[in-house]
Formats: sequence, structure tokens, C-alpha cells
Amino acid sequence: MIKSVIVGSGMMGVVHSEALHRIPGVEVAAIADVNEAAAKKYAEQLGIPKYYTDYKEMLAAEKPDVVHICTPNFLHFEVAKYAMEQGCGVYCEKPLALDSKQGEELTKLAKEKKVPNAVNFNYRNNAMVRDIHERIAGGDAGKVFFVHGHYLQDWLMYDTDFSWRLDPSRNGVSRAVADIGSHWFDTAQFATGKKITRVFAKLNTVIPERIKPLAEVATFAKNDGKGETVKIDSEDLAVIMVEFEDGTLGSTVISQISGGHKNDLMLEVDASKYSMKWEQENADKLHVCDRVDGNRLIYASAGTVTGDAARFAPIPEGHAVAWKDALKNGINEFYEAVKAGTYQNEDQSYATFATGWYVLKIVDACLESSAADKWIEVK
Ligand SMILES: NC(=O)c1ccc[n+]([C@@H]2O[C@H](COP(=O)([O-])OP(=O)(O)OC[C@H]3O[C@@H](n4cnc5c(N)ncnc54)[C@H](O)[C@@H]3O)[C@@H](O)[C@H]2O)c1
Repeated sequence: MIKSVIVGSGMMGVVHSEALHRIPGVEVAAIADVNEAAAKKYAEQLGIPKYYTDYKEMLAAEKPDVVHICTPNFLHFEVAKYAMEQGCGVYCEKPLALDSKQGEELTKLAKEKKVPNAVNFNYRNNAMVRDIHERIAGGDAGKVFFVHGHYLQDWLMYDTDFSWRLDPSRNGVSRAVADIGSHWFDTAQFATGKKITRVFAKLNTVIPERIKPLAEVATFAKNDGKGETVKIDSEDLAVIMVEFEDGTLGSTVISQISGGHKNDLMLEVDASKYSMKWEQENADKLHVCDRVDGNRLIYASAGTVTGDAARFAPIPEGHAVAWKDALKNGINEFYEAVKAGTYQNEDQSYATFATGWYVLKIVDACLESSAADKWIEVK
């Protein structure tokens, strides 16, 4: 058995635990959270034998093979670095770290320590995103002309909405772009097989003051509107033009204040034979749009998707594969590489620390571009 532990028992800690319980050959030995009541409650609810309030104590006592980092962003660097120094593998939530400098250090340390490493960019592990990837990589869709889309949410649209993501010391300088824009970048790069090498971004904070509640509020939870008024510098939204390594142009709109949009990631790739459009909120379907033959809506199943994407759609059409399946698929891909001992190979189907570092460079370039009001190279 591969022994795993989880740090952070919030929204993502719970989801990681559920995913791990679906993966053969992996045991979840313990969970740590500074909030003891939460650690205890979720250990019991999720069938995890032990809980801790100090992740270092947990790592020393359990000596796990892999730690899953599901804490607020500012702890990713500290926990990942500490774990790798103990020779432990890391499956880290996104963004990998607070900035690309930290991402570089973690990526180099993972290589030096030769430990398994991954970042949870889960959307690339959806069956239909894999289908787009296969259609492009295999040549079926033809030449990529244009890549566009958006990632829109509404959970921060009122000035009374608050979470640790509004605090730069715990979240990092960039909010909407680092939090959800990073997912769009990874999904677009994976689907097309091309890296984003230049950006022109305009970031905007449309709610410059928010009411910070007196007590901590869980992710996506509503608060009662009572608290202190604090100034907000991080962006609520961004409009971003991107250029891929081969000159292909793209664009995306990122927002956390767009009413009615819950987790609305959309990616469209327009290629020379047809266009492909994937909407995360209809995760098991792909629009394949042809000028001559018309538009088709393909439902995920092993028989309808292309090539290797079949592995990600094991059940028949209409038995919808969705968000938690994609997340589990990515974690499974990682553990397959751990089991096979191939995790040091650079080319992995899951996102490695190197991928996470590159995405942080795109986020940094967006911040720089917005401030300088010009195209910036991702470097
Ligand atoms: N991949 C995705 O689709 C996705 C979705 C949501 C969040 N995330 C990422 O997951 C991470 C966690 O987000 P969340 O929404 O679950 O947050 P959350 O606020 O729901 O949970 C964070 C948990 O970490 C705990 N924590 C804080 N400090 C700690 C410490 N020192 N040691 C142990 N535990 C500590 C908190 O008590 C809390 O229980 C973030 O980095 C976020 O960007 C990813």
C-alpha cells in the first residue's frame, strides 16, 4: 500500500480524501488541520484513522509516501518544502505557491530529492478535455486557429463576501487570475499541447472595500455582513489576451463577480476542420462544430471519445462524468506513475511541479502586463 496523508480538512481536503478512497493501493493514514474540531470531525466522517493539528508532527509520526496539501495558498511552499526535505512525495493544490520564484525553488527541490510531485490542475483530467487533446494531438481537428474562453464565478460579487483569498498574505498578490485563471491556462495548454508564451492582461478590482467578518468563513459560505471594512487590492476580474508558442492567439475572461456563473469554465478551440467547445458545468459533453456537417453534442463514453480519452470515460453515455471524476482521474494518474516508478519522467499526463511553476510564471506575467499596460513574455 502507498501511504498518504492530507494537510487541510476544508473543501478540498475532503474532496481529496474521497478521491483517494476510490484509488486502489492507496491508504489515507491521517489528516492534519490547525482547527482541531474540523480535523476530528472529518477524520471520523471520512474514515481516516488518525488526525493531527500539526502537519510536522503528522509527517514525523506517519512517515507517509505522499502528502496532499489542501491548505490556503501561503502554506503550499512551506509544507511542500518541508515534506520533500523528509523525502516525502507531494500532491499540492493549485496554485503551487505564491509566486514563480517559490514555484522554481519547489520544482528544483523535487528534482533534487527525486520525489513524486504534482499540482492539482484537475480540469485537464476531464474526459472531454482529454478528447480535445487527442483530437488535436492526433491531427483529427486539423490546425489550431484560435483558442478562447472564460472562467466566471459569482461567489465574491457582494462586498460582504469574504474568505482567506481576500487576504494577500494568505492568498498571494493575484486572486482571480491565480485562483481560477491558472486553471484556464493549464486546461488550454494541455488541450492544445502548446505553451502560452506572451500575455496582455488588464486586471480590475471593482469592489475596492469589503466587510471582513469577525470569524473565519468557509470557502463559498455566506457571512452575516458584520465586521470591519478592509481595503482590497487583488483583482476581481481580468481580461487577458494570450499568445501560444507557435503564434496561435487566444483570449480569456476571468471573473469572481459575475452573477449567475457558479463554476463556469469554458474552453473553445477553433481548428481548421472543426471547433470544439467544452463547458465545465456540462462536464460530460463536448460540442464539435463543423461548417459543413453541422454541430454535434458528444456525450462522454469510451465509444464516443478519441484515443486515450477513453480511459477517462469508462461508463456509458449519459452516466455523466463530472468534476469529482476529473479530480480523481488526475490523482489516479499520479499514483499510477508512483506505482510504476516513472514519476521522474518529465512528460506526465498530470500536472507536475514544473507545470505548476510555468503557470505561476503566466500569472506573474499577467500582473506585470496589467501594471505596464503592454504585452509581457512568460519568462
Ligand atoms: N483544484 C480545484 O478545483 C480547487 C478548488 C478549490 C480550492 N482549491 C485550492 O485548494 C486549497 C484549499 O482551498 P479550500 O477551498 O479547501 O480552503 P478551505 O478554507 O475550505 O480549507 C483550508 C483548510 O486548511 C486549514 N489550515 C489552515 N492552516 C493550516 C495549517 N497550518 N495546517 C493545517 N491546516 C491548515 C484550515 O483550517 C481549513 O480547514 C487552496 O490552495 C485552493 O486554491 C482548488
